[in-house]
Amino acid sequence: MKLRFLFFSVITIALLAACGGKKESNSDTQKNVIDLTANDQMQYNLKTIEVTAGSTVRVNLKHIGQMAKNIMGHNFVLLKADVDLSEFAAAAISAKDTDYVPKSKEDQIIAHTSLIGGGESTFVEFKAPAAGTYKFLCTFPGHYVTMQGDFIVK
Ligand code: CO
Repeated sequence: MKLRFLFFSVITIALLAACGGKKESNSDTQKNVIDLTANDQMQYNLKTIEVTAGSTVRVNLKHIGQMAKNIMGHNFVLLKADVDLSEFAAAAISAKDTDYVPKSKEDQIIAHTSLIGGGESTFVEFKAPAAGTYKFLCTFPGHYVTMQGDFIVK
């Protein structure tokens, strides 16, 4: 009788441990969903984006304006740490064929969306980089002046 009780206790503890373990792995694969909009006035709705280190990040970009992609195109480009923002934006101007994402500077990019026009939406999903502060911008010619912000990983 005593042995049977012990057996059930062990089973109960094992089940509790299994559930606890599952919970933990859920928080490891945490997802940060960011809703970013961009308008015809060359503005994002966010100046700062904050995410958790090690999480999966999904950036939803929605162009809430009406102007076409070739005159008011918007994207979201996240640069690696210590990349010179204005230098990068300058290189992007001559990258019209690749939607203003310069192939020569691909190694300086963590993630980017496609370029969209008024009424369109896009998204990009990536693993959050190491803790720190990174820069994001729209690489359409001239837009980075008003369309840039801090991407903070904590
Ligand atoms: Co733009």
